[in-house]
Amino acid sequence: MTPGTNDPAILLRVPKAEDAADLHRLVAECPPLDPNSLYCNLLHCTHFSATSVAAVSKDSHGREHLVGFISAYIPPGQPETLFVWQVAVAAEARGQRLAARMLDNILERAVCQDVRYVDTTITPGNEASWGLFRSWARHHDAPTHSRVIFERDRHFEGRHDDEHLMRIGPFEIAAESAT
Ligand SMILES: CC(C)(COP(=O)(O)OP(=O)(O)OC[C@H]1O[C@@H](n2cnc3c(N)ncnc32)[C@H](O)[C@@H]1OP(=O)(O)O)[C@@H](O)C(=O)NCCC(=O)NCCS
Repeated sequence: MTPGTNDPAILLRVPKAEDAADLHRLVAECPPLDPNSLYCNLLHCTHFSATSVAAVSKDSHGREHLVGFISAYIPPGQPETLFVWQVAVAAEARGQRLAARMLDNILERAVCQDVRYVDTTITPGNEASWGLFRSWARHHDAPTHSRVIFERDRHFEGRHDDEHLMRIGPFEIAAESAT
């Protein structure tokens, strides 16, 4: 069986505060992601947990290891949009559609029943991220549109590449009856 597709050893679940330190480490191991403060990761795992997902594998002692995470939220005043902040998959778990499956997991929750669009921002050189979101859009027969939203000089004082807003949608995903 392919791990990350139907492998029962990888569980997708709602994050909890105790995941934050592991998330902090995972993001640090996933360049080019911007590292956040541990406090920020605690907010991902608590305030944003309903629209975020943790992927954990269990070892032979039943201990959980964080192998994937998506931090995301529904922006204030935009109930039809899920904004994906960061996607991180540990190197050993890549290439098994885990990132795509994590995104589906969030969108299948009742809290996302009104969501018709996924927004994310991507730097021009992040081929993995473009590949992931274009592929996800293809799988869901959803159109994509992108434009620069945060500019290197105007918004980042020349210290960060342009960020392109990629909007995927509209699409339909059947929400489960409970989160
Ligand atoms: C990007 C990342 C999350 C992908 O995770 P993953 O679980 O391996 O991705 P999936 O297996 O779900 O792949 C889904 C699609 O993305 C594409 N993709 C994944 N990695 C890719 C890469 N390095 N280059 C181009 N496309 C890529 C796959 O081809 C796949 O499409 P397909 O099924 O149509 O072939 C992972 O490589 C990672 O954590 N990278 C470092 C952090 C990062 O760049 N995060 C994204 C920015 S938020």
